[in-house]
Amino acid sequence: MATFNLTVNGQPRSVEAEPEMPLLWVLRDELGLVGTKYGCGIGACGACTVHLDGAAIRSCSLPVSQVGEQPVTTIEGLSADGDHPVQLAWLEHDVPQCGYCQAGQIMSAAALLDGIPNPDEAEISAGMSGNICRCGTYTRIHAAVKSAAE
Ligand code: FES
Repeated sequence: MATFNLTVNGQPRSVEAEPEMPLLWVLRDELGLVGTKYGCGIGACGACTVHLDGAAIRSCSLPVSQVGEQPVTTIEGLSADGDHPVQLAWLEHDVPQCGYCQAGQIMSAAALLDGIPNPDEAEISAGMSGNICRCGTYTRIHAAVKSAAE
């Protein structure tokens, strides 16, 4: 076990964990931030997407020892009141079906729009291609990303 001093959603958080513990489990089990979901555990589905220093990453595949001083943002910290443009667009387009993958979808969409404020169709498809939705809400996800960009 080792102590890791993280910055999560703008707050300093100190955790005791095995260095190889994936960030996902530190967030969920040590810090109680259960909005970030476990889907596949092998970096293939995107359910566990969070921001590391502003970039969308798979928290299931990142050992906590590699976080260092880079700030982590989870769905709980994306906005103060759920009013990030992507979150509002998600509501407007009634995107979720079961909802399980949606935190990861939203975090990927927010990072995409940070990098490309007005993505074209192909850029939206490419930017969101790493996030799988078993309910098949892709059409609404695409529309919501487009509307969040406007
Ligand atoms: Fe991390 Fe699927 S749980 S990519």
